[in-house]
Amino acid sequence: KTKIGILTAGGDCPGLNAAIRGVGKTAIVQYGMEVIGISNGFSGLIDREYEELTEDKLSGILTLGGTILGTSRMKPFKPQDGDTVDDKPQVILENYERLGLDALVCIGGNGTQKTANLLAKEGLNIVGLPKTIDNDVWGTDVTFGFDSAVNIATDAIDRLHTTANSHKRVMVIEVMGHNAGWIALHSGLAGGGDVILLPEMEYDMDVVAQTVISRAEKGKPYSIIVVGEGIKTPNKKNAARYIGKEIMARTGIETRETILGYIQRGGSPSPADRILATRYGSYAAKLIHDHEFGTMVSIKGGEITSVPLEEVGGKTRLIEPDNTLVEKAINLGVSFGQ
Ligand code: F6P
Repeated sequence: KTKIGILTAGGDCPGLNAAIRGVGKTAIVQYGMEVIGISNGFSGLIDREYEELTEDKLSGILTLGGTILGTSRMKPFKPQDGDTVDDKPQVILENYERLGLDALVCIGGNGTQKTANLLAKEGLNIVGLPKTIDNDVWGTDVTFGFDSAVNIATDAIDRLHTTANSHKRVMVIEVMGHNAGWIALHSGLAGGGDVILLPEMEYDMDVVAQTVISRAEKGKPYSIIVVGEGIKTPNKKNAARYIGKEIMARTGIETRETILGYIQRGGSPSPADRILATRYGSYAAKLIHDHEFGTMVSIKGGEITSVPLEEVGGKTRLIEPDNTLVEKAINLGVSFGQ
C-alpha cells in the first residue's frame, strides 16, 4: 500500500482542512493509499508527531477553519535560536524513512514551497499545495484562503462605510498581505474604497490628502482608505496609524483607523475556497499516484495543473504595474495615491 504524509506549514488560512480532506479522501477512496497526518508543520516530522488519517477522521472537517493538523513556521533549513536538533533536514529524511512514507504533501505558502523544494532535492517524493490568504504564491493564479480573506475584509469595509458616513469621518482600514497587495486591491474594489494603497505602488501623501479634500468639496465628507499592511512608511511606522495621522494633519477631517488583523485568517472558508482547496487536494493525490514528484499543484487560466517546485521555491507573486484591475479602478476614479 502506498503511504503518504500530509502536513500544513506557515500561517494558517481558511480552506486548509478542505485541502487535507481533498488529498486524504481521494488518496484513500480513489487510490487505496494509507494517509498519515503530520502535526505542526515540519516540526512534526522532526518530533515524529503524527496520526493516521482514516476516512472517519477526514469526515466533517470541510467547513472547519484552521487546520486539524496544527501548523508552525519552523524552517528546517534555517538554523534558529534555541535549536535542539543540529541537522534538521537529516532528521526529517530519517523520519520519512522510519515512517515508511512514499510521498509527502506540503501544504503552505512561499516559505513552505521553498522548504518543499529543498526536501525534494534531498530525494524525498514531494508534492506542494499552495495556500495563503495573501495570494502571493509564485506559479499559480490563485491560492485558497484568499477568497475567504477578501470576503471578510470586504464585509469590514462595508461596515466602515456606514459609520464613516454617519460621523463624516475618514476611515483607514489596514488589511494583511505582507508585501503583496492582493487583499487590499480586491477588498478595496469590492468594498468601494476611495483610496487603495498597495505595497507594490509608490504613493504620494499629498495626493491621498487631496483626494479626501476633493471628495469633501463635492459634498462627500467621508472617505474610505484601504491600505495593505506592507506599504512603505517612514521608519517602518504602522501603515494604518501613519496614513491616518497624516490625513488628519493635512485635511483636518476627523480620521479613525482599523487594523483588521487575524480575523482575516480565521473561521470557515468561503464556498469558492472550499472548492479550490478540494480541487487542489484531489489533484495532489493524483500527482502522487502518477509519481509526478517535485511539483506544486497550480491553477492557470482556470485549469488545474502542476509546476516544478524548483520554479516556485522562494519567489513571490506581486501585483504587476500593468494589472488590469488597477487600471479599471483608476478609470472609475479610485485613487492609488499617484
Ligand atoms: O502570510 C499570511 C499572513 O497573515 C500575512 O498576511 C501576515 O503578514 C503574516 O501572515 C502574519 O504572520 P504571523 O502569523 O506570523 O503573525
